[in-house]
Amino acid sequence: MSDSEAREERHEAVLRVNGVAYPVTVPARRLLSDCLREDVGLTGTHVGCEHGVCGACTVLLDGEPARSCLTFALTAAKHEITTVEGLSDGEKLSPEQQGFKDCHGLQCGFCTPGFLTVATAFLRENPEPTEDEAREAIGGNLCRCTGYQNIVAAVMRAAELRREGEPTQ
Ligand code: FES
Ligand code: FES
Repeated sequence: MSDSEAREERHEAVLRVNGVAYPVTVPARRLLSDCLREDVGLTGTHVGCEHGVCGACTVLLDGEPARSCLTFALTAAKHEITTVEGLSDGEKLSPEQQGFKDCHGLQCGFCTPGFLTVATAFLRENPEPTEDEAREAIGGNLCRCTGYQNIVAAVMRAAELRREGEPTQ
C-alpha cells in the first residue's frame, strides 16, 4: 500500500473469493488486484501492465472475466469472485489447467492465470469452439513467451476434456 493510501479513509467490506468470505478494510480506490494479492493473500492473480491491456490480472466476477487492475475492491464485494486458485477441485486440475499442462500452454507462467480464467469462462459459454473461436477468445490476453500456438491448443484440449466429462465448473 502506498503512503497516500495509508492516509485515506478506509471502508470495511467482505470479499467472497472462491467461495470463502474475506473481510477487508481498504481505501475506496484500492484495486481488486492489489487487494487480492496483498490483503486477501491470494497471489495467483498476477499484475502486469496495470492498465487493462495484458490480461494477467483477469479474475471472474459472477463467472464473467474482469480485469482486476481496473476494478475497485469495494465494487467487487457485490460479486462472487473466482481467482485462478479457485479453478481446481482441490488437487484435481480443472480441464483448462489440465489442457495447459498437456499442451505446454505456458512457459514462464506469468500470463497463465489470466488465460486460465478467460478460457474457463469461454468454454462454459462455448463448449465446442472452433480453433478460430478459441483464438479470438484469448485475443485480449498477452503472452510474451509462447507464441500463442500452444495456448490455443490448450484451450481446444480443455474443451475436449470437458466433453469427456471432466468437472464442468
Ligand atoms: S495487469 Fe490488469 S490487464 Fe494488465
Ligand atoms: S508464458 Fe510467459 S508470458 Fe505467457
